[in-house]
Amino acid sequence: MKEPEIRTVLAIESSCDETAAAVVTWENGAPRILSSCVNSQIPLHARYGGVVPEIASRAHTEAITPLVTEALQTAGCAIDGVAVTSHPGLIGALLVGVNFAKGYAFANDLPLCEIDHIRGHIAANYFSAPAPRPPFLALVASGGHTSILLVESHTAFSVVSRTRDDAIGEAFDKVARVMGIPYPGGAEMDRLASLGDAHAWKLPSAAIADGSLDFSFSGIKTAVINELNRRAMKNESYEKADVAASFTRAVCDAVCTQIGAALQKTGCGTLVLAGGVAANRHLRAALQALCDARGCSFFVPPPALCGDNAAMIGAQALYEFAAGARADWALNARPSD
Ligand code: KG4
Ligand code: ZN
Repeated sequence: MKEPEIRTVLAIESSCDETAAAVVTWENGAPRILSSCVNSQIPLHARYGGVVPEIASRAHTEAITPLVTEALQTAGCAIDGVAVTSHPGLIGALLVGVNFAKGYAFANDLPLCEIDHIRGHIAANYFSAPAPRPPFLALVASGGHTSILLVESHTAFSVVSRTRDDAIGEAFDKVARVMGIPYPGGAEMDRLASLGDAHAWKLPSAAIADGSLDFSFSGIKTAVINELNRRAMKNESYEKADVAASFTRAVCDAVCTQIGAALQKTGCGTLVLAGGVAANRHLRAALQALCDARGCSFFVPPPALCGDNAAMIGAQALYEFAAGARADWALNARPSD
């Protein structure tokens, strides 16, 4: 690979409820983290049971300047470019990061690059040694997104399938909420699932069987919530751990069904898992087993890089800058891809 012109990047992420800034650089042909700072707003949103967009925007505005300062000071080196998540996400939240990045790049005469949040999640895997090399199949599973993508190169992607309604993380969080688990309940569902009976509750499949490889998590989520509400009205007890284990098993089964078919269809020999839900130990184990059985390679980031962060945005930016991507001063945020 030719020596990239832009070697060290300041990356900014503010698409949902984490403000994040990072400095990443090329080292021996791979992205490396020099600093990664994340300010989570979860305590601000937890009392409402979900992210409140207006509160998120205000909190990003307060957090971004100290966070970027900290990321730059920790890295302690000059930067050659600025990257920012421009889509998809909450529009007011994205605007804070995009406008900060534009201002910083303009004031310091640096090139600017816009990054797709989903591509960023996948790029969290490029810090691994060895790192996955395209082409590969990727499952991005987070609070806002669930899709299977074919990553043709570091900068060329096509969507194989997606959820038609709820994202996996959203479904985890909503089931958790009805059981009284504070937002976001995904990590607690993961812990509880290890303690329960995964066959206690019979649930519908989230894998759509029409040949599309799409998912639907709203049916399975509603089935669980209706049964929980019915039991609450009749004062019938249940074990939270059984619900978590059964729900997790159903989610893992659906994911394995569609991923198995997607690997078959695309002929890919490598699977990459990404997004906040990639931290789920049961999903990691299920996909590792699926890949082992098929002789495929499996990659997943360390848990700290699964949730929203700016290092992943910086990793994708190094490849996008190297491919010649540049945003102009008219760059705007947009809520969807
Ligand atoms: O990627 P992320 O930080 O934000 C979005 O881009 O949406 O993902 C957050 C989501 C939340 O729904 C959270 O409950 C879920 O990831 N999550 C988990 C786990 N850790 C985080 N879901 C299941 N098991 C986990 N261990
Ligand atoms: Zn995310």
